[in-house]
Amino acid sequence: MSTAEKTFSKGLEGVVAAQTEMSFINGTEGILEYVGIAIGDLASQSSFEETVFLLWNKRLPTASELEAFTKDLRSHYTLCDEMITQIKSCPKDAEPMHVIRSMISMLAMYDTDPNANSVEAARQKSMRILAVTPAIVAVFDRYRRGLEIVPADPSLSFAANFLYMLNGEKPTEAMTRAFDICMITHADHGLNNSTFAARVVISTLSDVYSAITAAVGSLRGPLHGGANEGVMKMLNQIPTVDDAEAFVMNMIKNKERIMGFGHRVYKAKDPRASELMTLAKQLAEDTGNMDFYNKSNAIEKVMEREYAAKGIYPNVDFYSATTYHCIGLKLDLFTPMFVLARIAGWSGHVIEQLEDNRLFRPTTDYVGPHDVAYVSIDNR
Ligand SMILES: CC(C)(COP(=O)(O)OP(=O)(O)OC[C@H]1O[C@@H](n2cnc3c(N)ncnc32)[C@H](O)[C@@H]1OP(=O)(O)O)[C@@H](O)C(=O)NCCC(=O)NCCS
Repeated sequence: MSTAEKTFSKGLEGVVAAQTEMSFINGTEGILEYVGIAIGDLASQSSFEETVFLLWNKRLPTASELEAFTKDLRSHYTLCDEMITQIKSCPKDAEPMHVIRSMISMLAMYDTDPNANSVEAARQKSMRILAVTPAIVAVFDRYRRGLEIVPADPSLSFAANFLYMLNGEKPTEAMTRAFDICMITHADHGLNNSTFAARVVISTLSDVYSAITAAVGSLRGPLHGGANEGVMKMLNQIPTVDDAEAFVMNMIKNKERIMGFGHRVYKAKDPRASELMTLAKQLAEDTGNMDFYNKSNAIEKVMEREYAAKGIYPNVDFYSATTYHCIGLKLDLFTPMFVLARIAGWSGHVIEQLEDNRLFRPTTDYVGPHDVAYVSIDNR
């Protein structure tokens, strides 16, 4: 390509950098499909395990395939003792996202063949990372709280096992289902920043652990997965539902970004936000947290009035904040929940990249000077 043909798009907006068969997004109409199936149908009828199978195999499993897939996943729930020791060597006040990023990186050292990059090897490593990351989160959280580590229970689903390891008691059906829906809705989302990071890393034929580690680092940013924590902080700062409007208007006046709103792709309401809004309302009613739901709703109304014309609507993070709060998760575990789910998408993209790899290597538009004389250090 000649220099004249090169175009520069800040933030790579509108640039098609990969092909995928996993998720389809129509940002104007607010549509999200995984392998052609509407996210709402998956949220209401599927399970996280089945959704991961769908993303990795591009079709729904038969009953026996789902059983085998689930069995395989559950066989990797347990974290080895060496990894538990590593987690316990982290400072107790470390941010969980830093711990998760470091520990996923460290998993490579407890893999006898960490660099194997065949598609089959990548699938196996993805299965392992997906299955064991909930234990990383739960072990760190219990360790920092001074509580006994709760071993994984392979008789439980992905969602139930995580909540069990975290809280030390079996979750209710309703909590498990709510958490499962959160996992489904966060599993994949096109070439978002963290997924791009994973694909860029694996395109060098590095290794799956490095790719997922890079993705975790990307996700924690407040413009990406870190926004759900920002939403909760905002909700906590608003004393009552009656204060919501003035609070948001003040933020707008100060030209502050309202976390949980806006999206590079969606210029309509993010369909995941719609699913999570319903879930948040139900959970808020069940757990006596209507205050949080009502404040969120009031913020959405103000934002609709002030920003809908600009195509800024609630995104996936907005109602996931209330949902996670109702599930009883601490604030700094919100973004880690995004990690647990999105490992499914990152891994699927790593596999797709390996199936048809070409090194990512964009170019820069050099805007600096030319023909500058070198001046020796004594003469500067
Ligand atoms: C997600 C996000 C980074 C996408 O941004 P983007 O496509 O790069 O768009 P830009 O940052 O260029 O913003 C475009 C305009 O919309 C405004 N805008 C975007 N999101 C906004 C928000 N949440 N609150 C207030 N204004 C917002 C910007 O200020 C900018 O206005 P301007 O044209 O007057 O300067 C952005 O919407 C944002 O920062 N949202 C809050 C963080 C968040 O919720 N992230 C989670 C995404 S799932």
